[in-house]
Amino acid sequence: MAGLAVNVDHIATIREARKASYPDPVAAALIAEIAGADGIVVHLREDRRHIQDRDVRILRSVVQTKLILEMAATAEMVGIALDIQPDTVTLVPEKREELTTEGGLDLMVHKGSIVETVDTLQNSGIPVSIFVDPDPEQIKLAHRVNASMIEIHTGTFCDAATPAKKEAAFDKIIDAVKFAHKLKLGINAGHGICYNTIKDFRGLHEIDEFSIGHSIVSRAALAGMEKAVKEMRALIKDL
Ligand code: PXP
Repeated sequence: MAGLAVNVDHIATIREARKASYPDPVAAALIAEIAGADGIVVHLREDRRHIQDRDVRILRSVVQTKLILEMAATAEMVGIALDIQPDTVTLVPEKREELTTEGGLDLMVHKGSIVETVDTLQNSGIPVSIFVDPDPEQIKLAHRVNASMIEIHTGTFCDAATPAKKEAAFDKIIDAVKFAHKLKLGINAGHGICYNTIKDFRGLHEIDEFSIGHSIVSRAALAGMEKAVKEMRALIKDL
């Protein structure tokens, strides 16, 4: 069975919308683990728009499954990873102006700096995964830079507007998974996966782990709404 790594960035997004102390992504991570998550993912972005350094530090000491740190391949982030020692680092491209990660890392362009980052992290005992588009050339380069794993970007498939586009995008994912498996790379998949699109991955047993955030946090907000309103209603009733 594939694992589920739960990304709690958007719990921090809600917190940062008010610069409040809650909801705490650390609390969300612990509940996710109790519910069966196989790992917790956080993306520490350069602009700290959601996850903060404090979150990563506390998560490192309380997460019982594994802590996966998503980050850009920058000197600052490498320093933080070496200090915190997450169980895995996933290297992602990062642009300040993007709403979320918009695509895989382009290893044709960044191969030089990525080799160095992968070496530094893996030599310190942190396995590295590279977030790549489902493109055999990118997967070949991920293998060449010695990454332990790849995470296949599933966003184009999940966001496809028509069944034909969806099918074409999924065919690329299937090919990418088979190719990475042949190269003996660990294979994760993520971005945009929701309660509907996850069903399409049935039978792709080469995938080791799914990394899912937005749909789970969205579902949590709605599934918990009734309880949250009832609790506040009860408190008002007792005034
Ligand atoms: N994998 C990577 C590399 C990501 O950047 C993200 C988004 O933070 C995810 C997975 C999770 O995507 P989503 O929030 O759409 O489930």
